[in-house]
Amino acid sequence: MIHSLTDYVRFNNGTEIPGLGLGVFQIPDEDTAEVVKKGIINGYRLIDTAQIYGNEVGTGIGIKEGLAATGLSREELFITSKVWNNHLTYDETINAFEETLERLALDYLDLYLIHWPGKNAYKEAWKALEDLYAAGKIKAIGVSNFEIHHLEDLLSFAKVVPVVNQVELHPKLTQQALRDFCEEHEIKVQAWSPLMQGKILTEPVVKETAEKHQKTPAQIVLRWDIQQDILLVVKSVHEQRMQSNADIFDFELAPAEMARLSNLNEALRSGPDPDVFDF
Ligand SMILES: NC(=O)c1ccc[n+]([C@@H]2O[C@H](COP(=O)([O-])OP(=O)(O)OC[C@H]3O[C@@H](n4cnc5c(N)ncnc54)[C@H](OP(=O)(O)O)[C@@H]3O)[C@@H](O)[C@H]2O)c1
Repeated sequence: MIHSLTDYVRFNNGTEIPGLGLGVFQIPDEDTAEVVKKGIINGYRLIDTAQIYGNEVGTGIGIKEGLAATGLSREELFITSKVWNNHLTYDETINAFEETLERLALDYLDLYLIHWPGKNAYKEAWKALEDLYAAGKIKAIGVSNFEIHHLEDLLSFAKVVPVVNQVELHPKLTQQALRDFCEEHEIKVQAWSPLMQGKILTEPVVKETAEKHQKTPAQIVLRWDIQQDILLVVKSVHEQRMQSNADIFDFELAPAEMARLSNLNEALRSGPDPDVFDF
């Protein structure tokens, strides 16, 4: 279990990722630099963006400004982006990666993900990621929104096992079977929309637990993740929330509280279902 915002977790290829990161989904490009800079100043070391978010330019500016403000080096940050996988050919995937790097104004990525599996649209894209990884342009490669059957298929031809599967995960969608499969194959699971985009925060069990611990509902849900060794990316544009979302290392949920939160599971998604979402 991680014990601070700058605690790292080891991937199957030996590289390490901060256990808790800042996501920038749905932030307009022109606002993103300020958010990323504030995140870095407040101790976040992992920034999660994607080609489709349209804010890689702002993310890159924020990284530069965050490094200047803190005196950190690029190597002390962990930057993730994702290829929008609408049946990309090998060459198109390589180009998408090069364009992402250019927008971010970086010369390597720490992690590059296939954003969605589509209808098995990932075979050539994965080969491209493997080659970019072998060339040293990405420190680790992974997938996002892959179900067990997608992973089984990927593992049947992949030369490199993905380090991570980033999926929607929160107490209403605990993804236990997928987590078990990933653990068996040394693939880390990283939760996106860990707060269910805010919707989980009004849940009575979450609110009651928060009152008991004198913590916020968001802190309770994020603590529930880290006590299960689930990697996290959480988004806020507000500095005070960035700080409180990272202030989850000074209390512990009891086993009964963990179970009560897990029992909220309804296999309920706030985002698309990977099996019917085709691009
Ligand atoms: N791979 C994928 O397909 C995928 C899909 C979705 C997301 N993601 C990644 O996962 C990250 C996180 O997911 P997300 O942005 O969808 O949702 P989220 O982190 O679950 O929730 C973000 C929402 O909750 C609010 N919020 C944050 N902290 C709060 C707090 N302490 N109290 C009350 N409200 C709070 C935010 O508002 P404010 O900003 O106004 O504070 C925002 O509206 C994304 O940014 C992205 O990097 C990946």
